[in-house]
Amino acid sequence: MALNPADIRADFPIMHRRMHDQPMVYLDSAATSHKPKPVIEAITDYYERLNSNVHRGSYQLAVEATEALEQARKKVAQFIGASSDAEVIFTKNATEAINLVARTWGYANLGHGDPVVITELEHHANIVPWQMLVEDRGIELRWIPIDCHGHLDLTNLDRLLDGAKLLSVAAVSNVLSTINPVRQLADAAHNAGALMLVDASQHTPHLPTDVGEMNADFIAFTGHKMCGPTGIGVLWGRLDLLEAIPPFLGGGEMILNVTKEGFSTAEVPWKFEAGTPPIAEAVGLGAAVDYLSALGMPQVRVHEMSLTEYALRTLKGRYGDSITIHGPSEPAERSGVLSFEYKSVHPHDVAQILDRAGICVRAGHHCAKPLMRVLGCAATSRASIYVYNDESDVDALTDALGEADAFFVK
Ligand code: ALA
Repeated sequence: MALNPADIRADFPIMHRRMHDQPMVYLDSAATSHKPKPVIEAITDYYERLNSNVHRGSYQLAVEATEALEQARKKVAQFIGASSDAEVIFTKNATEAINLVARTWGYANLGHGDPVVITELEHHANIVPWQMLVEDRGIELRWIPIDCHGHLDLTNLDRLLDGAKLLSVAAVSNVLSTINPVRQLADAAHNAGALMLVDASQHTPHLPTDVGEMNADFIAFTGHKMCGPTGIGVLWGRLDLLEAIPPFLGGGEMILNVTKEGFSTAEVPWKFEAGTPPIAEAVGLGAAVDYLSALGMPQVRVHEMSLTEYALRTLKGRYGDSITIHGPSEPAERSGVLSFEYKSVHPHDVAQILDRAGICVRAGHHCAKPLMRVLGCAATSRASIYVYNDESDVDALTDALGEADAFFVK
């Protein structure tokens, strides 16, 4: 059944907010999504009924809290098609998940001159951890370029993958909206003897995600972009890899035994979860997964693709060549992110004009400065949609954009 954004909005208490005395139009879900009542209630319920530390106490309350945490892990595992709950590691966010791979698998397996391949459309979270390995270990960082339509240019993929140890790619660009051919890339990486890491931060909230179908070795994503709370992310990894690589942070929870002479590690996934984990946040993420599953991820995708088609048509129809919308022109090839430049108005000025109309968009480099350089701009304005948006939000954006003329266009 098609999504009904009006019904969905009723689930999100923050949608009652007004901005500058007007109804809020929230078009910044690529930065963070709002949270529906069931997620907020699950977190409150955890603190009101279950709060205690996990994997430590033998009393009933601690057992129940532990069960709540592990139940959340199970829900996430099912949501992404993992074959075992143990493959789901809770982290702070996607950034930490990628750093975990770089610091554990990377430090154990990468040496001087070993190539790691990324792309020009990556978020800094999938660039800087590898650049740190360039500095520390002397690895070689190779970049898959993009073409003028915002797709990856795979012409020289075989050459770029020659000798590579890892290919690490965003499934969906947070700037261009491009949906990358993850399966094709993973197959090519494996044929070349490399592992495949997928930054699924902009994929998991918006498209059905199946780690088996992706044929990935690791995927990283964050909870707060998919209706969950901040402070919780996920690293999914192939179990045999997770078992083979060293731990990340050291401390409580991640050990089997500690003596004066040394330590042994707990089993996966706890081996990678040092210290008290984000328990309430994991419970909230479990509720978010339930919420999205009830909507149906295929239905989420259909809704967003249709709204993206409407937005592209409406904005281009009204503003023609005065607006540049980055990324592929086909809605089927993109997610619900619309990064644009309007006439010569600075993106921060555009965002300010839109804010006066109660419209929330992000302006800036979107944590993708190498991509901005390739695009030849310092910044863009970015509107991004989610399950609670509808055509009226796009209309509000389209109408308000023209207001920039009066202030900024000579
Ligand atoms: N990574 C988030 C974004 O693209 C914060 O806005």
